Amino acid sequence: MKVTVAKTAGFCFGVKRAVEKVYAEADGTGGPIYTYGPIIHNESVVKDLEERGVRVIGTPAELEKLERGTVIIRSHGVGRDIYRLIEERGLKLVDATCPFVLKIHRIVEKESRAGRQIVIIGNRNHPEVEGIMGWCEGTAEVIETKEEAENLTVKQNAKLCVVSQTTFNNNKFKNLVEIIAEKGYDSNVINTICSATDERQREAAEIAAQAGAMIVIGGRQSSNTQKLFEICKKRCENTYYIQTLKDLEQTIIPPVDCVGITAGASTPNQIIKEVQKYVRNEF
Ligand code: F3S
Repeated sequence: MKVTVAKTAGFCFGVKRAVEKVYAEADGTGGPIYTYGPIIHNESVVKDLEERGVRVIGTPAELEKLERGTVIIRSHGVGRDIYRLIEERGLKLVDATCPFVLKIHRIVEKESRAGRQIVIIGNRNHPEVEGIMGWCEGTAEVIETKEEAENLTVKQNAKLCVVSQTTFNNNKFKNLVEIIAEKGYDSNVINTICSATDERQREAAEIAAQAGAMIVIGGRQSSNTQKLFEICKKRCENTYYIQTLKDLEQTIIPPVDCVGITAGASTPNQIIKEVQKYVRNEF
């Protein structure tokens, strides 16, 4: 039986880099270690790190209480205020912000200083978007829906700079940009979408179309894993959503010639390897 594991399964470049930085710090002897927000949405990783002494904090108030230690900023990034607070408290900073997100921070900082009104296409409650907003001089407009794009009003003769959340859907971004363009503002549109999610979905679809059974690994709450599952299910009836190897052990998969495996962005490599080994040995 053939087993095909997606090359893009699991952590993207930015998340992998961030997780490695936390483990490197945890293995050192640098005193208390904190991540500003969970480093990834994966309970087993966060728990494992907790056992190594890494605590999760999530608010400026919690930061203000810290007397010493290291604060790690996760791949989503944070606004300028959080950097300032870390410095004021005399804490050590480890910046694991994804370089693609850092690039957006630099764009909005520069463009807003030059007087452009920043428009972020994305979800205003997402930590990445909150971080981007935190680098704008003045306020930023956040747009996620067609209605919000239609209702966008900024002062007359304003110049815009439009950027996107890295994980935003490309087609939706283009549609929203078109609506904004119709308003006739002088706009500098910079597509800052990262291709990692698209590539993972495209590869999953290709593998599922060839597979007799498809296994999708990821947390139940992970929206990108749910999306992967939907994509695969459309192309392969025998698609299974598992969180860990345990779920697979309790699943009866019909005999097939080819099994495909993919995983969401917060699935550790270790779980993917375990599943792959199990499929090769047991099926
Ligand atoms: Fe990942 Fe960075 Fe892209 S965190 S999804 S590589 S923006």
